[in-house]
Amino acid sequence: MNNKGGKVAVVTGAAKGIGQAIVRRLAEDGADIAIADIADTSETQALVRKTGRRVVFKHCNTSSEENTKAFAEFVMKEYGRCDILVNNAGIYPFVTFDDMTFDQWRQVMSVNLDGTFLMCKAIVPIMRKQKYGRIANLASAQCFYVASNSLHYIASKMGVIGLTRALATEVADDNITVNALAPGITNTGTVRKDAGEYLTSLPELQAIHRPGDPKDMANIVSFLTSDDVAFMTGQTLVNDGGWARL
Ligand SMILES: NC(=O)c1ccc[n+]([C@@H]2O[C@H](COP(=O)([O-])OP(=O)(O)OC[C@H]3O[C@@H](n4cnc5c(N)ncnc54)[C@H](O)[C@@H]3O)[C@@H](O)[C@H]2O)c1
Repeated sequence: MNNKGGKVAVVTGAAKGIGQAIVRRLAEDGADIAIADIADTSETQALVRKTGRRVVFKHCNTSSEENTKAFAEFVMKEYGRCDILVNNAGIYPFVTFDDMTFDQWRQVMSVNLDGTFLMCKAIVPIMRKQKYGRIANLASAQCFYVASNSLHYIASKMGVIGLTRALATEVADDNITVNALAPGITNTGTVRKDAGEYLTSLPELQAIHRPGDPKDMANIVSFLTSDDVAFMTGQTLVNDGGWARL
């Protein structure tokens, strides 16, 4: 299912967590992988090699235009094509509005929203030439329910949803679809470290009383980046155990 043989997938923020699970799933689907991250991705690369697929990595801060342009050139040099882009890199520091500084606001906007824009700017021209592309952007289910201490984060992820809707319109004629995934609370190392209490409190509000697993998110990204998603674009799918209902 979701066969991606012969396709090349770029995934950002794949050193760990949801991004790592996405890379593993897309490789299992048959795609060759290019990882953009600021951290060491050797663990993720090893997972790809186990599937028999090819993987390349280049250090890339997705909020730097210089870095994202260089990354797109790197992908073309290595693979000569790019069919799938998953904008997963993101940060979610928790801070109240009263304590939030403008620097903190800018930092979250710069990684979560500027980073998504810049990667699309770098990769979409390649997809346009190929007349094929599948883009999946990571938003958050926090956009759809009451959540505290995340004003900059929720604003940035609403921006990702807006970017997804607007870009979908602009690239549709070149057979490129753009959709977003909004995960609910998901059991990653960063969540365990920074917000472990949410892993038990939030699932109580869901229909399915457990936190998401990174694999749950990877399964939906596998679908969003498949050939099956040829007529659905500009959408945001919520994958949160059935709390938010759109
Ligand atoms: N975990 C959750 O509960 C949850 C819920 C909703 C949405 N999300 C979203 O899913 C995505 C992944 O979340 P996660 O929990 O796996 O995060 P994580 O902290 O486990 O991993 C984030 C990855 O992004 C990389 N990264 C950070 N800044 C970067 C930059 N400037 N350039 C390139 N790479 C960068 C990190 O090195 C890391 O590999 C994020 O966009 C997050 O907002 C997560």
